[in-house]
Amino acid sequence: MSKIAASILAADTMHMGDAVRLIQESGCDAIHFDVMDGVFVPNISFGPKLLEDMSAEFDAWFDVHLMLADPSHYIDVFAQSGANMITVHLESANYQQAIKRIRELGLQVGVSLKPATPASALQTLHDMPDMVLVMSVEPGFGGQAFMPEMIEKVAQLRTMGYTGEIEVDGGVNLENGKLLAEAGADILVMGTKFFKSENPAELVRQIHQLGKNKL
Ligand code: DX5
Ligand code: ZN
Repeated sequence: MSKIAASILAADTMHMGDAVRLIQESGCDAIHFDVMDGVFVPNISFGPKLLEDMSAEFDAWFDVHLMLADPSHYIDVFAQSGANMITVHLESANYQQAIKRIRELGLQVGVSLKPATPASALQTLHDMPDMVLVMSVEPGFGGQAFMPEMIEKVAQLRTMGYTGEIEVDGGVNLENGKLLAEAGADILVMGTKFFKSENPAELVRQIHQLGKNKL
């Protein structure tokens, strides 16, 4: 069974509460919360206040994806604001410190790889993260085209012996999601496809049915 994390980057910010209700009522497994600083990526998104308000209102799993030049300064505030899992990029400054702090706070650790970063770069880590987030677009914007080469990166992570969860983010739909699940991915992030879907509950049902065939 594959899981779906709906990305609120694609939601209508004037109706955020309705967007989260839709995510929950359609049976999504997590809320993917993208944080962008305008430096690590050429876009600015949401900060801790939105997460705090959202987590106070909704009982959901908050999967926080930090696209920050130096995420180590922001771990505590996102933890206090309700993150369940925090993902930092291997390409950002002080990521080892950030990972250490996420662990100390008892949250799940995610590590993300931009498209050009090879799976082998994970070998620089002292301990394996709970989740590896494979970016299948250049981080920064929703609605971009999926990079099919990233299916191979998922398979490589499994060949390397990585046994934690693998999440894939960017341009994911039901078609490439099936191939990603077969290659070993567990969690599919969907922004545009989820919010543009005419029947989100059916989309979630179909994602939950995708098989997993780890290499
Ligand atoms: C991009 C973000 C994604 C984005 C995915 O940098 O990390 O989470 O919301 O959106 P879609 O599914 O529209 O590609
Ligand atoms: Zn993301």
